[in-house]
Amino acid sequence: MTFTKDVAPILQKSCQACHHPGTSAPMSLMTYEDARPWARSIKQRVAAREMPPWHIDKTVGIRKFKNDRSLSDREIAIIARWVDDGAPSHTAQPHP
Ligand code: HEC
Repeated sequence: MTFTKDVAPILQKSCQACHHPGTSAPMSLMTYEDARPWARSIKQRVAAREMPPWHIDKTVGIRKFKNDRSLSDREIAIIARWVDDGAPSHTAQPHP
């Protein structure tokens, strides 16, 4: 898994609406440089389904969202795998 090929499209769809400069979200996730320092927390938050925040509402069925940004199990697995691989940018890094 690499950022450019696998992770960036997911962040674009599900995270960047909030995580860009000038919003209430604590950090930008627009570029690799923005996201890299947050890799561990990103994995934690998406695995716990705390990010993106809509998912919780969907589970309890209070609201339906036109722009559903929730992540599929596959997308969560991609992010987790990317972080476990050392959060590489373009090219997969060999395991130590
Ligand atoms: C609806 C807007 C919104 C969306 C969409 C969203 N976030 Fe967030 N995110 C926030 C806000 C606001 C916070 C700060 C409050 C909190 O920590 O819950 C936050 C906090 C975080 C944190 C914790 C930062 C810290 O200080 O430790 C991480 C990691 C994170 N988001 C990752 C993501 C990822 C990855 C996605 C996409 C899968 C995403 N977020 C989608 C609004 C959003």
